[in-house]
Amino acid sequence: MAKEIKTIGVLTSGGDAPGMNAAVRAVVRTAIAEGIQVKGIMRGYAGLLEEEIKDMDSFSVADIINRGGTILYTARCAAFMEKEGQKLGAEVCRKHGIDGLVIIGGDGSFRGAKALADLGINTIGIPGTIDLDIACTDYTIGFDTAINTAINAIDKIRDTSTSHERVSIVEVMGRHAGYIALWCGIGSGAEDILLPETYDHDEQRVIDQIVEHRKKGKRHHIIINAEGIGHSVSMAARIEAATGIETRATILGHMQRGGMPSCKDRVYASIMGAKAVHLLKEGKSKRIIAYRKGEFLDYDIEEALAMEKSLPEEYVAISRNLIRF
Ligand code: ADP
Ligand code: F6P
Repeated sequence: MAKEIKTIGVLTSGGDAPGMNAAVRAVVRTAIAEGIQVKGIMRGYAGLLEEEIKDMDSFSVADIINRGGTILYTARCAAFMEKEGQKLGAEVCRKHGIDGLVIIGGDGSFRGAKALADLGINTIGIPGTIDLDIACTDYTIGFDTAINTAINAIDKIRDTSTSHERVSIVEVMGRHAGYIALWCGIGSGAEDILLPETYDHDEQRVIDQIVEHRKKGKRHHIIINAEGIGHSVSMAARIEAATGIETRATILGHMQRGGMPSCKDRVYASIMGAKAVHLLKEGKSKRIIAYRKGEFLDYDIEEALAMEKSLPEEYVAISRNLIRF
């Protein structure tokens, strides 16, 4: 029979994502409903090593479901990449009576969760990143809000781009992955979408398309460029020189990570938070919660980290036809 879980910890790690607070709230409230105490670990693995740990109750997560960011703060912690740091992390958990830990973050944070699990601390990961770049899941906390934030900005850029008859390059986040760019490109009706997974760096093709669209009477030309390709400012200068059309670059940056989470992010994060507590209660460890083909599931962390993620080919193929004019 699984050891009785009396106290669990929860932390957020890596880049913050809107909806993380809903997940924290669900962890705390579900645990309390199950008779389990909860400790909030501040600033990710950094706060674990520095023992920045506080007791949480139902009231401590009131009024946060609608707030972006993470009330637990987050950090990137180099010391935790080392075996010594991980051993210290496991010791701190034992010292504070933490029988299980919920880790909300991305792939890097899950590698930390695996390390702790190997040292005897039960861990469950919840995918929290705006990038949607975690292979085992079709959903990550924050992606939905981030694409809606980005698309609001892109719609505004389109207005001024049309008025001035300009080319506009809009760079969106996503680290090495093109999910945000693909969704924003399709959703905004962009004239071109540059994805790290498929871009062949044939800038002449990009330029020829601008010229062709202009000849056909199109007044604006929005190019969604993924962060993984980058160089939007120099690209804009080259396009302007080659076409003679005024070209501006906008890098949306960290505004994509903030703001009020969408309803989907709040609800899915809540379900994932609750499921993480249920798994810990059942004595499970080294698992990641995922959402796939309409179902919430969980995977072994090692198995999940070994999976390869690729952009849905069908979406990419469809988007190619939609950008033609
Ligand atoms: P994300 O979780 O969003 O992918 P990072 O890659 O920055 O973000 O990872 C967050 C933190 O997780 C790192 O700062 C580090 O503390 C921890 N981490 C990352 N990779 C590992 C690893 N290989 N082993 C242990 N801990 C790791
Ligand atoms: O992983 C989320 C993310 O916002 C990526 O899209 C981006 O590449 C990175 O984090 C930015 O990190 P930082 O906040 O450290 O600048």
